[in-house]
Amino acid sequence: MRRFGDVRGPPDAMGRIYAPRRYASAGRAGVRAGDGPWLGSGLMDVLIHLFVGLHIIGIAALLGGFLTQMKAMGQGTARFVPAMLHGALTMLVTGVALVGLNEAQSHHVDTVKIGVKLAVLIVILGLVYVKRDDEKVDKSLFGLVGLLTMVNIFIAVLWT
Ligand code: HEM
Repeated sequence: MRRFGDVRGPPDAMGRIYAPRRYASAGRAGVRAGDGPWLGSGLMDVLIHLFVGLHIIGIAALLGGFLTQMKAMGQGTARFVPAMLHGALTMLVTGVALVGLNEAQSHHVDTVKIGVKLAVLIVILGLVYVKRDDEKVDKSLFGLVGLLTMVNIFIAVLWT
């Protein structure tokens, strides 16, 4: 009988037991590997995590840029700083890449959730792009971009 931790293959018709199965789906570092060769999917998982990291850098730029302008927003003199535009673009590029990478790995992607996040980001990107050269942006419009960014963060983490 095979027990947990037994990595030997099953005996063949002659009762011979073959040496360790190198591609057994034993799972590494808490991630359950597929049944195929694990090297390919392992690299893909690293790539997905790298893009999640870049996605988070994008949020940092977009939200961080907004936060630096909070005082100015109160005075009606806030402007969309370049970090906000670059952050929003980073979110779009890394988000689309994450969808593709997850699909390629046959991971479940919630298309409704992603669709809502994409729609919200397009509004953010449109506003920031059109007003990128304005010296001052109206308080309510500026606040709306910050609000929509936070809405997307909470959609990402609360919508399961
Ligand atoms: C302001 C806009 C956005 C914000 C604040 C945001 C935020 C986040 C956060 C915090 C995560 C990590 C938590 C999680 O896994 O759910 C995440 C993951 C993800 N985001 Fe976004 N996102 C934005 C836009 C987008 C867009 C436009 C797309 C696609 C077109 C996208 C696709 C994804 C995908 C596929 C993941 C899952 C990564 C994984 O678990 O493998 N995001 N996003």
